[in-house]
Amino acid sequence: MKVFIDSADLDEIKQAYEWGIADGVTTNPSLMKKAVDKRKKINLKQYIDQILKIAKGTPVSLEVTETSAQGMITQGKKLYKLFNPVANNVYIKIPVNPAFKNADKTHFAGIEAIKALSKVNIPVNCTLIFTPEQALLAAKAGAAFVSPFAGRIDDFIQTNNKMKFNKTNYFPMEGKEKGKTTLNDNGIASGIDLVAQCVDILKNHGYKTEVLAASLRNTRQVREAALVGADISTLPFSVIQDMLKHPKTYEGMKNFTKDIVPDYVKLTK
Ligand code: E4P
Repeated sequence: MKVFIDSADLDEIKQAYEWGIADGVTTNPSLMKKAVDKRKKINLKQYIDQILKIAKGTPVSLEVTETSAQGMITQGKKLYKLFNPVANNVYIKIPVNPAFKNADKTHFAGIEAIKALSKVNIPVNCTLIFTPEQALLAAKAGAAFVSPFAGRIDDFIQTNNKMKFNKTNYFPMEGKEKGKTTLNDNGIASGIDLVAQCVDILKNHGYKTEVLAASLRNTRQVREAALVGADISTLPFSVIQDMLKHPKTYEGMKNFTKDIVPDYVKLTK
């Protein structure tokens, strides 16, 4: 499974690439805002160029902010033209369905935009996927990646069932029971179940589209995303750090360090 860093923070992205564990970057408008707010004064063009250069040879997703089909197509093409020459690694992130309440006929504009951009060889990461059906249609329209939002489905199931929860807590992939029924959203028992169903459907029907598990908030979700065959997981920097931790690792190091024979160290001085 490839590991992407889900961040627009240059320091985090740099670190993940220095560690040699990053296979790509995903950004979204909220992550971009967080990075910009942190820095106060920023030349956004130069800043994004730096991200692209660090990630050279691996995909970087940049999201559109327009919501109509034509708006997304035009903006997607402009973003690609502006940034892809930097390191040839830009993917345009398009919401599967940029729906707002009381949306008009542009409601399903995402699919049209995916088709139009893919047709001119601009790779698309289709975002905000909450059902396997959305993933299937995005793949049909030509998306290179589909991004099911695991954590947000877990939030949705718990909110709908009036459960109190902490967003980063583990939600079992097999779902949670209430009485004798497993809670679900139209047959989706958990975020990881959503990822698994997307993987199965796209594999069963021979799509080249890769499943990019997004909105992962803890290490067990990452493990499960890998177990169910996600092609990619995109992870906040904090989750990447957590993946390296275990109390027995620290304890082991403490004990080994205590036992070091000075002559052994001298051999390498
Ligand atoms: C990735 O592309 C998504 O934008 C991101 O993983 C969303 O994560 P969140 O639900 O924790 O905000």
